[in-house]
Amino acid sequence: MEAARILRAGGVVALPTETVYGLGADALDAHAVARVFAIKGRPEHHPLIVHLARADLLPGWAIDVPDAAWTLAERFWPGPLTLLLRRGPLASDQVTGGLATIAVRVPDHTLVLAVLDALGSGVAAPSANRFGRVSPTTAAHVVADLGTDVDAVLDGGACRVGVESTIIDLSSPDPRTWAVLRPGGVDTNQLSEALGRDIPIALGGPKKAPGQLASHYAPRARLEVVVDLDQRAAALEAAGRRVVRLGPDQLGATAEAWARSLYGAIREADGQGPDVILVASPPAGALRDAVHDRLRRAATPA
Ligand code: TXA
Ligand code: MG
Repeated sequence: MEAARILRAGGVVALPTETVYGLGADALDAHAVARVFAIKGRPEHHPLIVHLARADLLPGWAIDVPDAAWTLAERFWPGPLTLLLRRGPLASDQVTGGLATIAVRVPDHTLVLAVLDALGSGVAAPSANRFGRVSPTTAAHVVADLGTDVDAVLDGGACRVGVESTIIDLSSPDPRTWAVLRPGGVDTNQLSEALGRDIPIALGGPKKAPGQLASHYAPRARLEVVVDLDQRAAALEAAGRRVVRLGPDQLGATAEAWARSLYGAIREADGQGPDVILVASPPAGALRDAVHDRLRRAATPA
């Protein structure tokens, strides 16, 4: 398979996953991983998620894997859940940002699973956008962002989930410290239910990872989340501002639909060159926390 061949040769390939497109390199190839940082424009101490073909490949990448991790892997992999565990001997400083932990997941997309299987290694992949920009959910988004800087873009269609994976930190032996570091494609309630304990969302706490920046996923235009779209739009337009509105008419009726269309809609809105992108409060549903988190970050100026 061509994508696996390119990765084996030290290349960088944009890969479809169920969440967002990733910018992948063989996690054991230091030169290839360095290119990922360079292409993304990502600061070098920001750790990457390692993608594996199957849960049974975890040993080596992670050590002291708690039973809870196996429980979650069994229930949610392949799927939009990233486990933060103590790093094993295969995990380089480059991939982990020099931290004592490693982030790993098994993505749920037939194309990327076939590539991982053929490569027989882990693929380190951040989202395939330029640093600080909205994540890509189609191959066309990747090409618009990264152009010919990547060796190949594997087109797997539009991403099914549309926001990044949930990151749960299980790296401490003390279960009372376990927490969600980034809400995402797996709802926090489902994690609490699977583990039989309440898993808090540790937002804005001590910065465990440099990647958890307040401002991220930022469009060029100012983005505001508002309760009354029409009222706010009228006020801004009266003041001569150009406004694009994103609400249920554009994004759908459920949080899941919003997650799926959010990044594409923000890109499109931004492309119209408005002064302000106005977004309504997201509707209820399993992915509401994730959508809300991304909107909050997109609304924070860089
Ligand atoms: O859905 C996803 O997770 C997508 C697809 C491509 O898999 N990937 C993704 O990667 O969102 P990225 O690099 O855009 O975001 C990964 C996040 C960053 O905030 C990073 O700081 C955090 O995971 N992370 C990675 N390794 C970590 C570690 N060892 N400790 C704490 N946070 C870590
Ligand atoms: Mg990202």
